[in-house]
Amino acid sequence: MKKLEDKTAIITGGSKGIGKSVSLSLSNAGASVLILDVDETNGQNLVDEILSNGHQASFYKMNVANEHEWLTFIKFLKEKNVLVDILINNAGIWLGKEIHDVTLDEYHQLISINLTGVFLGTKYLTPFLSDAGKNLKYGSTIVNLSSVAGLVGSQLDPLYSMTKGGITTFTKSMAIYYGKKKYPIRINQVHPGIIQTDMGAKVSNSRLIQNPNMTKDESNSVGISQTPLGRLGSADEVAKTILFLSSDESSFMTGSSLVVDGGLTAQ
Ligand SMILES: NC(=O)c1ccc[n+]([C@@H]2O[C@H](COP(=O)([O-])OP(=O)(O)OC[C@H]3O[C@@H](n4cnc5c(N)ncnc54)[C@H](O)[C@@H]3O)[C@@H](O)[C@H]2O)c1
Repeated sequence: MKKLEDKTAIITGGSKGIGKSVSLSLSNAGASVLILDVDETNGQNLVDEILSNGHQASFYKMNVANEHEWLTFIKFLKEKNVLVDILINNAGIWLGKEIHDVTLDEYHQLISINLTGVFLGTKYLTPFLSDAGKNLKYGSTIVNLSSVAGLVGSQLDPLYSMTKGGITTFTKSMAIYYGKKKYPIRINQVHPGIIQTDMGAKVSNSRLIQNPNMTKDESNSVGISQTPLGRLGSADEVAKTILFLSSDESSFMTGSSLVVDGGLTAQ
C-alpha cells in the first residue's frame, strides 16, 4: 500500500514551484490532490500531467487571501462530501524591496497572501481535517511553508521575514492548540533555503537591484557561496520533506520545524 493511499490533500499555490513538486510527490504517494492557485493555466496542465501518470488530481482557481473565495470553496467541499486528510499551506509571495520603497498596498498584499492565506486555510479546513483525523491512527496533517527567513533575519526582505516568522510561531501555537483541544491534527513546518523556483530567481534579482555594483552572475553566486553544500536546493528536495511530514512516517511530530537549506542557517 502506498504511503498516502486513500488520502485527499489540498495544496495551496500548487500550480508551480515547490507546490507543483509537492502535488506530484503526494499524488505519486497515492493521495488525491486538490490544487488551489490563482494560476489556472499551469494548474490545469499539472492536473493533466498527474492524471496521465495514473493518479488523481483536480484544480480549483482561488486566491488564498480572499475569504469569500474560501467560503465558496468550503461549500463546494461540503456538497461533494470531500474529506480532507492533508493541508499544505504553500502559497506565498516575495517582495524583495528595501523598506523605504515598499508601499502600504504592497505590504498589505504580502501580508494577505503569506499570513492571512495561512490563517484562512487553517481556520476553514480545521473541521474537515478534524473529521478525517478521527479515522486515522496518527491524525490528519498540516504542513506550513515557512522559510529560513522565518528563523533568521532576511538581508533582502525584512517584511517577507516578518511574515515567515509569523508562520513559524503560528505553527507551533496551533500544535499546542490542537493538542490541548484533542483535535486529531498534527501540524508541522518546513524552512527552505534558496530554492530554484521563480521565487528563488526573484531573490537573486532583488540582490542585484539592492546592490547596483553587482553583476547578475555575482548575484547568483552569492546564494550558492552562502550555502555550505555549495548549491541551491531543488523544489523536489523540499517536496520530499513535505511528503514525510504529511505521512504517518512523522507520526510523533507536531509543532516541529524541518530546515531544508543546505546548511545556510547552520552557520
Ligand atoms: N523558492 C524559495 O527559495 C523559497 C524559500 C523559502 C520558502 N519558500 C516558500 O515556499 C512557498 C512556495 O514558493 P515557490 O518558490 O514555489 O514560489 P513560486 O513563486 O515559484 O510559486 C508560488 C505559487 O503560489 C501561487 N500563488 C501566489 N499567490 C497566490 C494566491 N494569492 N492564492 C493562491 N495561489 C497563489 C502562484 O501562482 C504559484 O503557483 C512560498 O510560501 C515561499 O515563501 C520559498
